[in-house]
Order: sequence, then structure tokens, then C-alpha cells
Amino acid sequence: MAVQFDMIQFEPNTRCNLLCPICPYVAVSRERPAQNVTFGEYREVFERSFTPPYVVIFSGFSETLLNPDVMEMVRFEKDRHCQVSLATNGLLLDADRSASLLDMGVDQIIVSLDSPLPEVYAAIRDSDALGRVMQNVLHLQEEIGRRNSRSKIVINAVVTQSSAPHLRELFEFLHANGISDVAFIKIMKMALTKGPVLRREYIDWQDYEGLPWQELLNTAKQLGINVMRSDSRVIGTSGCHLPGKGFYISADFDVSTCPFLSFDNDYVFGNLRRQSIEEITGNQPYREFCRLFEGGNHLPQCRECACLFS
Ligand SMILES: C[S@@+](CC[C@H](N)C(=O)[O-])C[C@H]1O[C@@H](n2cnc3c(N)ncnc32)[C@H](O)[C@@H]1O
Ligand code: SF4
Ligand code: SF4
Repeated sequence: MAVQFDMIQFEPNTRCNLLCPICPYVAVSRERPAQNVTFGEYREVFERSFTPPYVVIFSGFSETLLNPDVMEMVRFEKDRHCQVSLATNGLLLDADRSASLLDMGVDQIIVSLDSPLPEVYAAIRDSDALGRVMQNVLHLQEEIGRRNSRSKIVINAVVTQSSAPHLRELFEFLHANGISDVAFIKIMKMALTKGPVLRREYIDWQDYEGLPWQELLNTAKQLGINVMRSDSRVIGTSGCHLPGKGFYISADFDVSTCPFLSFDNDYVFGNLRRQSIEEITGNQPYREFCRLFEGGNHLPQCRECACLFS
């Protein structure tokens, strides 16, 4: 029987068109075969497992728009009256895909754009994709305005040693282009991301908290920029809302609470190809994990995670 949950993050595929050295994708992709989940597979699992409405976020350790079936998944969930977000690095967010997403009434398009400064973007993503990403985002924003659409762009910006001194420039860029929502993500170490770029770019909590947040938030307010976590407009909560309320489902249909724990088999609680959601949520490890989390007994990964404290 299907169950009611608040939020489900789904990874629609396993491949990316960037190799950002801060991202676990770089290591994980060596072990995972390339695959796109088909709409048929998605529909079968989601219809049998989850009672709508819920919030669904299409995002994982991959580039969502590389899977052509992701559009049908968005349409299906909008038809089921769910709130739908889709995260992308923006490279494939061309005029046609933007138009399709807006036609379907997607609620949020989350685009990674850490900085409008080419040298900062390149330091984080090891790519010169910024020009194309900006062009795509600006076209999407124009189209949203032209249609008077309720869809929102949220800019995801990872806060790293390179980007932290330039957050003001990001606000100015967004303000100049009529984009009002930015979600900062403190860079996380995460399992498997151990390269020199991550070591160079990493910011610990003390340094992160030491950034001139009050001044930055005042600037943001003056410029009409809403600083948030990427899903807060949809979810309406702060802090980690996942254990007991939401899931992360990988392209293999493995179920964990969030992407950050999905690399550790201790926190993969089951698989929706082979098991029902009731079986998974009823199992002892899952129940124990939720109990410990609710009691404030957080895993080391959670203490490192920006979700817990944002
Ligand atoms: C994994 S990506 C998936 C969606 C899409 N490929 C993209 O880049 O937007 C989701 C978000 O995670 C962020 N991210 C990647 N590695 C990270 C890390 N080590 N710490 C914090 N956020 C990270 C990305 O910058 C992106 O905004
Ligand atoms: S952050 Fe996104 S774009 Fe970059 S490698 Fe990871 S999944 Fe790909
Ligand atoms: S706080 Fe823990 S459970 Fe929540 S998103 Fe972060 S790592 Fe996952």
C-alpha cells in the first residue's frame, strides 16, 4: 500500500556533463553504470509507494536534464498535484527545456550558479560553463516574466573558500536580473570527495559562521534577495526535515533519508524495486535511525551537514 510522506528526492539518472571536483559524483560515477530511469519504471514505483500530494525534488549525483524522461516525470507529478522542483547545473536548460518545464507548471527550477565571477565559478566547477549557464538562467527568468509564471528560479550557491569573499557580487548579479531566491550550501566533505580541490575549497563551521552574515543579509534585504536553503520555499521549514518525513531515492531505487547518507550502506534502508515502502519504513534500522535523530543523537555526517543547521 502507498504511504504519505512530505518530501521525496529522486535521482533520475547516474551521469553528469560536468566533473565538479567538489562533488562526490566524480568518484561515484566510476563505480556506477550509466543509466536513465525510464518514465515507466518511475511511475510504477511511485504509484505503488507514495500517496500524493508530496514535494518531489528531482536531483541526485548526476545532471537531471540528461534524462529525457525527466520531463514526463515532472508532468506526471504535477498532474498528481505535487509540488515539483528540479535541480540542474543549467548547461542543458535551453529555451525548449525551459519552455517545457514552465508549460508543465514546475514549481522550482534550482540552478547551480555559485558566482557570476568566472574565476570563482571555475575554481569550484573546474569548467568554463558559466557563460552558457548564465545565458540559460537569464533567458528562463525573462520567460517567467513574459508569461507571468508562478514558477521560481532558485540559485544554488556552494559557499567555499573561493566564493565566500564574493557573495555580495552574487546578490548584485541576481538583483540586476530580477532573480530573488538564492540558497547557500556550505561545502561539505561528504564520503568519497577527498581531492585537492575539496581540501583547498573546504570551509569548516567556525569559518562559515565567521563570515559577515549580518552585513550580507542586510545587503540581500536591500536588494530584495531572499536567502534560503534550496528547498525552503517549497518545504517551508528550516533544519533537517528528512528523517521520518522524507526520502532520497537513487537511480537504482535504493532508499535512504538524504543524498549525503546514500553512500553508506548502513543508511540505505531498502530498495523499492525489490521491496515495498511499508517494508522499508517498518524495518528496525530505519526506525532506529529516525528515533536517534529525533532524540538529537546525530550522526557525524549530520553534524557536518548544512541542512541540520541552516
Ligand atoms: C549534486 S548537484 C545535482 C544537481 C546538478 N547536477 C547541479 O549541479 O546542480 C546538487 C547540488 O549539490 C552541490 N554540491 C556538490 N558537491 C557538494 C559538496 N561537496 N558540498 C556541498 N554541496 C555540494 C552542487 O553544487 C549542487 O548545487
Ligand atoms: S555538482 Fe552537479 S554538475 Fe557538478 S559534478 Fe556534481 S552532479 Fe555534476
Ligand atoms: S542532517 Fe543528516 S539526515 Fe539531514 S540531510 Fe544532513 S546528513 Fe542527511
